[in-house]
Amino acid sequence: MVQRLGIRKHKNILKTTLNREPLKPLNREPDNFFMEQAKDDIIIYGGSFDPPHKGHTALLCAALREIKPRRIYVVPAFQSPFKDAAPVSFLNRFNMLKLSLGAVRPIRTTRASRFEGQKKRVTYTFETIKHFRRLHPGAKIYFLLGSDCLAGFWRWKNRRGILKNAVLLVGARRGFPFKNYSNLPGSAVRRVPFRRLKGFFPEISSTSLRVGLLTGVDSRFIAAPVKRYIRQKKLYFSKERRFLKQLLTPARYVHSLSVARLAAELAALHGESPQRAALAGLLHDAARDFGEVRLMRYAVSKKLKIPCFARTAAPILLHSYASAEVARGRFGVRDKTVLRAIALHTSGAARMDTLSKIIYVADLASEDRKFSQAKKIARLARRDLDEAFLAANYVKLKYAAKRQAVVGGKSSGRRLQATGSDSM
Ligand SMILES: [Fe+2]
Ligand SMILES: [Fe+2]
Repeated sequence: MVQRLGIRKHKNILKTTLNREPLKPLNREPDNFFMEQAKDDIIIYGGSFDPPHKGHTALLCAALREIKPRRIYVVPAFQSPFKDAAPVSFLNRFNMLKLSLGAVRPIRTTRASRFEGQKKRVTYTFETIKHFRRLHPGAKIYFLLGSDCLAGFWRWKNRRGILKNAVLLVGARRGFPFKNYSNLPGSAVRRVPFRRLKGFFPEISSTSLRVGLLTGVDSRFIAAPVKRYIRQKKLYFSKERRFLKQLLTPARYVHSLSVARLAAELAALHGESPQRAALAGLLHDAARDFGEVRLMRYAVSKKLKIPCFARTAAPILLHSYASAEVARGRFGVRDKTVLRAIALHTSGAARMDTLSKIIYVADLASEDRKFSQAKKIARLARRDLDEAFLAANYVKLKYAAKRQAVVGGKSSGRRLQATGSDSM
């Protein structure tokens, strides 16, 4: 009787539970599906994944082999650090990540998480770890990162909270050996406990890959399904490049790509955003092939504020201001620094910011330029941007004087600034 009552009671409880919480199909598991059962190891791997590349998957595969976790959560950040120019949305980065995870085995162990995307704000690592700690109270949590990121660990928020809830699992990236970190300020990395993954991992720079994508360079470090997705969704300025191709002559299009590449490289060296520099470089000559009459009409119809010398003596110089307007109106660029750099790339100005100088120099010294000083100025710009800027001014002035072209901007005044010759 007691037993029979017990069975009936148990059946009722089971029935009620099933009615309240219907089981969801496995392929739609929420993050907390394993909450009750989790006792084994889990790994969390965060990043912006902009774009996800083979360096990420190599690290994931090694962690899977060595730790054999119950689950790996790959957590893309909501906000890409390159939010200033044509950012790739969370959804697109999330979808690319899912495609790249197709190469990680076993597939069911790895899960792309929307946790930070759902927050719609900057989420710190300690918050993400806390979230997964709540989902897996009994699990040992590893936080996976490359040795390049470990170098900056002393700057992370709530390091104590991170280390309380998780073990850092570090893959050594070439170029970032652990021994170099002992001279870091604050709590030196050698005092931060971490577990090292066996072997070394390739140092693939997301920034270089991104700049490559922006300027149409193919990369073997990006998986084929991710490349297809990028093409389909027209990410990384592919839409802009297609439009530019129609707008410019083939030679000018090649020149624009070259300027974008050099500008992005210089930006990375001189503390500017490579993405903004690539965008400015790509669009700097967007209106260059309009021709003088069309340029004049365009400037009037758009009420462009342009210097007097350009309007009267050298209408072709209007193209830099017109290109800035095309970038704003046709491509939706709202970044004033980018627009200013485009507008000033021919005539310069009295006080130019770093990005404007970069575009000015890159326009003169891009690899498609055939004159002898171009290579020297490009080399100089990698070392000293200001010196390269002055050298570029000098070359332009000489060129303008030789051709009796107009010298614009402030160059004819007290201080040498820039010339208005842009046939180069
Ligand atoms: Fe130009
Ligand atoms: Fe140019």
